[in-house]
Amino acid sequence: MVAQPQPRLPRSVLEGSGAFLPARVVTNDELARTLETSDAWIRERTGIAERRVAGPGDTAVSMATEAARAALADAGATAADVDCIIVATSTPDEAFPATAVRVQAALGVTRGYGFDLAAACAGFIYALSVADGLVRSGQARGVLVIGSEVYSRILNWRDRGTCVLFGDGAGAVFLRAGTGEGVEAPGILSTHLHAQGTLGDILYVDGATGRHDRPQHLVMNGREVFRHAVTRLAEAVEEALSANGLGRADVDWLVPHQANLRIIDAMGRKLGLPPERVVVTVERHANTSAASVPLAFAEARADGRIRRGDLVLMEALGGGLTWGSALIRM
Ligand code: COA
Repeated sequence: MVAQPQPRLPRSVLEGSGAFLPARVVTNDELARTLETSDAWIRERTGIAERRVAGPGDTAVSMATEAARAALADAGATAADVDCIIVATSTPDEAFPATAVRVQAALGVTRGYGFDLAAACAGFIYALSVADGLVRSGQARGVLVIGSEVYSRILNWRDRGTCVLFGDGAGAVFLRAGTGEGVEAPGILSTHLHAQGTLGDILYVDGATGRHDRPQHLVMNGREVFRHAVTRLAEAVEEALSANGLGRADVDWLVPHQANLRIIDAMGRKLGLPPERVVVTVERHANTSAASVPLAFAEARADGRIRRGDLVLMEALGGGLTWGSALIRM
């Protein structure tokens, strides 16, 4: 029998990235005027110096739309190239329509499909994984993957243990179907998703339909989250490398979830990466949940740090618990 040439499966090539941050900067000192906290405490425990907070006109939809426009422009793409829009968010403007279809309308995309994905701070990695699956299975050729969050509207501003940690913003990437093969060709090499629902109560938000008697506020056992984050993220990072037969020394950039500088530093050390190879925005953005990885990624591409050919490792962990990693050749 004559061997037939196998058709190459498409892979998702990351062609553009973009970001949006609300204009208003809130410093630690400003928070310390109304809370029993201090700039020194927040910096020492988390690395955060300031965060952006949404103005009256900023919403998950408006910020996602701006980040998406920037990602399309960066990729040299237009609305006509978009088949699918996925928005990772825990703070949608409305229960429905999904943020993604509001963004679709705002961008002038007239075909294809879109939906939201809720996996808290791991949302962008989850969305990237779903998008990659859609591209690989031929269900989309151009996908916008967006993280957009307005946590300022779900924080208890009297709880100093949580409100100092979060900020608002949006980040986006544009993926296009490509045909490269092997770990040297550009594209998403693999994604790895995990969840452990039994840990749901260490980080959650009250007040949706299941808990309508309570205000909608984020509640967290910070110490427990911290403990699980370091272990689970280390596992997810190793998993991504070994799935591709790659080692720590192959990684050019770690783009971690921006929750806490101590967790980020621990991950960098585990990978043996010098600090200048770890993208850090937490000091200026705080934790923007599903927006944090694409915001950090977009910043490092825009300033020329991340370049074509680089190997980028992303990881995130959030309420659920949910966590995961993604390995991408630029
Ligand atoms: N300012 C001053 N004091 C504060 C404070 C603040 N903003 N927040 C908490 N404290 C106090 C606590 O009340 C506690 O006081 P007590 O000892 O008198 O009870 C003390 O500081 C220590 O609190 P603790 O929660 O043990 O501190 P910590 O060292 O664990 O740091 C976090 C707290 C939240 C910074 C840390 O646990 C953390 O970063 N966890 C991970 C959170 C995270 O990443 N979440 C998002 C995941 S997506």
